[in-house]
Amino acid sequence: MRDVSTVLLPACLTPSDVHGRLVVVFDVLRATTSINTSLANGASEVRVFGSLDSARVAAAAFEGDKILAGEERCIAPRDFDLGNSPCEFTVPRVHGRTIFFSTTNGTRALVAARAAQGLFAGSIVNAAAVAEALWNWSYPITLLCAGTNGKIAPEDVMGAGYVISELAKFGVLKLDENSKAALNQTPKTDTDRHNALMQTDGARNLTAAGLDRDIASCAALNSINVFAACDTQNMILRIARL
Ligand code: MLT
Repeated sequence: MRDVSTVLLPACLTPSDVHGRLVVVFDVLRATTSINTSLANGASEVRVFGSLDSARVAAAAFEGDKILAGEERCIAPRDFDLGNSPCEFTVPRVHGRTIFFSTTNGTRALVAARAAQGLFAGSIVNAAAVAEALWNWSYPITLLCAGTNGKIAPEDVMGAGYVISELAKFGVLKLDENSKAALNQTPKTDTDRHNALMQTDGARNLTAAGLDRDIASCAALNSINVFAACDTQNMILRIARL
């Protein structure tokens, strides 16, 4: 039986949620979707940072082929190469490159969980790949929702729910109350999922910024088959080979 708990916000994370556990971070709109998409499209690695300035400094010191990406209030800072739209991280743009990435909630949630036994980027687009990889380890699992500016983000809970639903195909799970609730927040059709995402504050922020096309990209359940694992010493995500 696998123990699965869901933490609804980074502020609720305790050491016991992290130590000796596999932690999957969800920022469905859009940071973890963008990380998974960029790795699926051939980025060699994604280095994540807790602030725009630390990403800037690290990128400036790096001599290889690189992209500085991220957002502030949904928009790329003027000196950045890319923002945080999954559809920007195309093969021609990212293949073979190192991405230096900082976002308001998603990359910070990854940094907050760096003491985990294993740390991964979860999203709706790779829920099945995440579940399959998690099942291969014996550690208990924490699903950490990044939230939006300190508020619970239903889209992150939904992402956790889809991973739980995929995990349940492999065997028996011991779910905490948050995980049971997340499992009940997994719309069954593409239309219902898209409509549910559209109701969220995250989607409203994106729509206000003229970025509503990103919502469909983030809603495409199991559209990519990669699993991104983080080297927690250096906060570098790469595709994990099992
Ligand atoms: C975040 O990390 O806060 C989000 O990914 C924000 C965004 O959608 O750009």
